[in-house]
Amino acid sequence: MIKKGIVLSGGKGTRMSPLTKAVNKQLLPIYDKPLIFYPLSILMLAKIRDILIIVNKGQLEQYKKIIPDGKNLGIKITYKEQDTPKGLPDAFILGEKFIGNENVAMILGDNFFYGQNLSTTLLNSSKLTKGAKVLLHKVNKPELFGVAKINNQKKIISIKEKPKKYLSDLAITGLYFFDNKVINYSKRLKPSKRGEIEIVDLLNIYKSKKSLFAEFLGRGGAWLDTGSMDDYYKTTAFVSAIENRQGLKIACLEEIAFNNNWIKKKHIKNSIKFYGNCEYSNYLSKLI
Ligand code: DAU
Repeated sequence: MIKKGIVLSGGKGTRMSPLTKAVNKQLLPIYDKPLIFYPLSILMLAKIRDILIIVNKGQLEQYKKIIPDGKNLGIKITYKEQDTPKGLPDAFILGEKFIGNENVAMILGDNFFYGQNLSTTLLNSSKLTKGAKVLLHKVNKPELFGVAKINNQKKIISIKEKPKKYLSDLAITGLYFFDNKVINYSKRLKPSKRGEIEIVDLLNIYKSKKSLFAEFLGRGGAWLDTGSMDDYYKTTAFVSAIENRQGLKIACLEEIAFNNNWIKKKHIKNSIKFYGNCEYSNYLSKLI
């Protein structure tokens, strides 16, 4: 099982400026909690407890105010700053020491996943021992994402970043599982025309070695985008609709940790003190 995970949570944030001038996008709220809680919860659902959060230079202190060290969540959080957004595979270069000799999962800090059987899909994916695995999901506007074309046997035959010409409607979501070779492969990448090292180039290395695998998030699953202002608010509306209907929270980190038996009641009590008197704390007190 993959034990190490990275949340890539930096970026320029230009698409959502001026909102992101002073505050990193992943610290802005999606309904009742910061955006970063959602991708972090996904790694925790995959039973990953050793997590590196990569943040923008200068924004470490803000992140630490919200997620200090992971003790109350039964996980270990390490932070690393990225000087400038050099591209997604830069995470594996920056994370070299953190990853060590292990395999690693990475999730983009602005990705939102929800749905029946999601935990099972995550646990299956984290069984990866060799190669790379991506999670694919059908979308209406594939030109906005990395896209994968598959054959009858559901094998990936071609991938492209934001293709102008139609290739497939299966987007490559921002959740990736890699073996340890990812560090060396990432170091080999050359920046593309837009000046970044590209995740599709990295995935293509695995593909050329016949070791790129796909997992599918079916139509019962939701993968929402928080990239543009409109999509960002649609995600907030989605979370609000589900939480208010069910009375259950999406991405309550303490709840996931408690269900995983990583923490005890006393840790939840610590969290309640930490967050203070708020709706999130009320929810936590109901758990215990
Ligand atoms: O959301 C899924 C898509 O994410 C994939 O389908 C694409 O293949 C992949 O390239 C990526 O596309 P985006 O255009 O959404 O990537 P963006 O540059 O917006 O970065 C995604 C997140 O990663 C964002 O929260 C900022 C963060 N980031 C990005 C870069 C390039 C960093 O922290 N550091 C970086 O160097």
